[in-house]
Amino acid sequence: MTRRNQTIVSDFLLLGLPIEPEQQNPFYVLFLAMYLITILGNLLIIFLICLDSHLHTPMYLFLSNLSFSDICFSSVTIPKLLQTMQSQDSSIPFAGCLTQMYFFLFFADLESFLLVAMAYDRYVAICFPLHYTIIMSSKLCLSLVVLSWVLTMFHAMLHTLLMARLCFCADNIIPHFFCDMSALLKLACSDTRVNELVIFIMGGLILVIPFLLIVMSYARIVISILRVPSARGIRKAFSTCGSHLSVLSLFYGTVIGLYLCPSANNSAVKETVMAVMYTVVTPMLNPFIYSLRNRDMMGALGRLLFKKKISFSV
Ligand SMILES: *[C@@H]1O[C@H](CO)[C@@H](O)[C@H](O)[C@H]1NC(C)=O
Repeated sequence: MTRRNQTIVSDFLLLGLPIEPEQQNPFYVLFLAMYLITILGNLLIIFLICLDSHLHTPMYLFLSNLSFSDICFSSVTIPKLLQTMQSQDSSIPFAGCLTQMYFFLFFADLESFLLVAMAYDRYVAICFPLHYTIIMSSKLCLSLVVLSWVLTMFHAMLHTLLMARLCFCADNIIPHFFCDMSALLKLACSDTRVNELVIFIMGGLILVIPFLLIVMSYARIVISILRVPSARGIRKAFSTCGSHLSVLSLFYGTVIGLYLCPSANNSAVKETVMAVMYTVVTPMLNPFIYSLRNRDMMGALGRLLFKKKISFSV
């Protein structure tokens, strides 16, 4: 009904970051640097894992999938943000906005599922070390990866189709740096109750269940280590699980806070800062936290750099 007598919006304006014009340049440099670090760090991981046959284990295959997903995830938002900061033209067509939203959801979900697969892999490795190779067969790994892709494809498509059916008529200014689902919903002039319901239900399934699974895996890891306490074991467990859990809580905490507990008094600045955390900061930190502190990865890097490659043919 709202469609009548109103012009239909065909372009949106992205406001970008809530900063002063004179701060644009330092922030531009900062985001460009973070983007380059994300791309290079993750590419390095993918190359190392591809080239080094020692690293062809489930954990590292999941890790290289995660790196791939990190590269794509940050490429969905940051290049457009950089372009918005540098030029005065911050418009984005409706179709472009939906496309960005689709890929944003797709890679965010994929990341979430891969983190579950990685936590499950660590759980099996630490709690059932003797059955590890039998349980984590390459067939299971491939199935987990394929399942993640299929589920995320459907989930992102569902939200995109529900969004495409809405009508946007009056306001076309998005107070955000990318086409965020909740920012778009606030602009719609048709009824958004179905969308909100689906976001709530699917968000619960897609975010909270993986998060609980991850926490459960790490909790069981900690319990199994505490059962046979040794100072070294405890230190090792807390150094790996602690860093994993810090990244996980950064990612899930901000995403769950933004989508599942939206409140009217969330200021645009607060929302943007939270969004920057999981769109820009987590993809950049993932490679460092998951691998570059890890002895096998450093060994692979050393072998690659110094060509001291001894062939361990199996
Ligand atoms: C992702 O994981 C699958 C299954 O473990 C593996 O075969 C594939 O090579 C990985 N893909 C990338 C890009 O690392």
